[in-house]
Amino acid sequence: MLRIAVLVSGGGTNLQALLDAKARGEIPHGEFVRVIASRPDAYALTRAASAGIEGVVISRKSFADLAAYDAAILASLQECGAQLVVLAGFLSILGPTVIHAYRDRIINIHPALIPSFCGKGYYGLRVHEAALERGVKVTGATVHLVNEIPDGGRILMQKAVEVKDGDTPEILQRRVMEQAEWLLLPRAVEEQCALWETRLQTSDGR
Ligand code: GRF
Repeated sequence: MLRIAVLVSGGGTNLQALLDAKARGEIPHGEFVRVIASRPDAYALTRAASAGIEGVVISRKSFADLAAYDAAILASLQECGAQLVVLAGFLSILGPTVIHAYRDRIINIHPALIPSFCGKGYYGLRVHEAALERGVKVTGATVHLVNEIPDGGRILMQKAVEVKDGDTPEILQRRVMEQAEWLLLPRAVEEQCALWETRLQTSDGR
């Protein structure tokens, strides 16, 4: 089983979807070992505690610069033996040290169909506001690998969601979560765990 760390900043409904999927036996190749929050008040920490998973807070503002923050995150990941990293509503920027150390092993969920409404400045409700402003009839969610380009890594899974007349950003956000994010993320995590379990065993020569 791959050891998974989840990075969060907010409510943690995507974390909850992962924990529920694990409890249902849908992530047999992975186990959640630590939740790292970028803010002490992230409700995701309560969800982690309820599931018996260790939660730690690493606040961006406690560190002088991105390099120091990045080093602290890497140290925490290594300390808990994380082999796969999932960004589930993590709003801080991940620096090059972590990205390099976990090349192709960091997964993010973005609430739009990349390459639409993505990149710098597109996070949270802003993504859905932009989709409504543009008048698209279909949006969705994307699970992708993380590289140095914001929302620029290889796409793993996408699912489309209908935009309806009268949608507000909040209503659309909720529909995208229910119909796409909470389904895709656990599936993508299990898929990557199974893949990396095989790869790591092969590289160990076992
Ligand atoms: C989700 O829409 C996710 O796609 C985005 O931030 C939101 C986080 O929600 N990156 P939650 O904390 O998982 O409830």
